[in-house]
Amino acid sequence: MEPIPQHTGKKICIVGASGKLGRYMVQHALDRGYEVVGVCREKSVHKLDDYAGRITIHAGFTNDRDVIERAVEGCDAVLAVLAPWGVNDYASGTAKAVMDFAKPGARLVFSCGWHITRDGKDRYSRNIRAAVAFARFLRFTRLIDMNDQYRAADLVFKSETRWTLVRGSDLEEGPSQGLPVWSRHVGDPILESNTTRRTDFALFMVEAVTDDSLIREAPAINGRTTPSALAHASEAA
Ligand SMILES: NC(=O)c1ccc[n+]([C@@H]2O[C@H](COP(=O)([O-])OP(=O)(O)OC[C@H]3O[C@@H](n4cnc5c(N)ncnc54)[C@H](OP(=O)(O)O)[C@@H]3O)[C@@H](O)[C@H]2O)c1
Repeated sequence: MEPIPQHTGKKICIVGASGKLGRYMVQHALDRGYEVVGVCREKSVHKLDDYAGRITIHAGFTNDRDVIERAVEGCDAVLAVLAPWGVNDYASGTAKAVMDFAKPGARLVFSCGWHITRDGKDRYSRNIRAAVAFARFLRFTRLIDMNDQYRAADLVFKSETRWTLVRGSDLEEGPSQGLPVWSRHVGDPILESNTTRRTDFALFMVEAVTDDSLIREAPAINGRTTPSALAHASEAA
């Protein structure tokens, strides 16, 4: 029988809870004894059926300010998936609503990808630059708007909240390899392998809640057992 986690007495809101990253975050948060509140689209509530009775769900778009206001009430931390869907400021609207309504002092942890840069000192491979250029080009389809994820990140960087913006590398499925390593700049040798298990991305998001050294940081992460992480283990942050 699995051990029953001790309740921490702390409440976490997971915005984007039904997605692949979100469901891993829900599991890690429950494993750590947090009370969990999730936000997801009405049509995706069923993806959280495995957690019925163990989490509270607020159905709605993550940039719906009324939904976010209700969901984050009383939460000690908010973990938010920033995704560049559509052309209606989905990511920036989500980030803004979370920062506007989270209780003062709450830990706010946002997800994005390596393409986001805080200080312009990241060094990107040709492949990453090409992938980002292509993704930005796709705005014409009106399905995604990468520029809005940049706007969301800028709002976070300028905020005086207790934020962390976790920048995920390429993701893969598979069992956990442990807490990812991180560095401040893409291009740092420890990140070269550019591969993180999605469950470990989620683990990093949840662990960031209690890691004050990550406040106002934008860590770029990479799998703990990837070749570049092992080769440069002594430099791990
Ligand atoms: N995929 C990668 O290789 C990769 C790499 C680096 C970083 N990241 C970052 O990781 C985070 C999670 O990405 P993921 O790829 O793992 O995907 P994911 O967790 O499945 O997240 C996608 C989220 O967007 C929602 N969504 C999907 N289609 C939507 C739509 N048309 N309108 C509104 N919401 C919609 C999903 O909700 P539903 O459940 O309702 O569909 C889910 O909450 C993101 O912040 C992303 O930038 C991803």
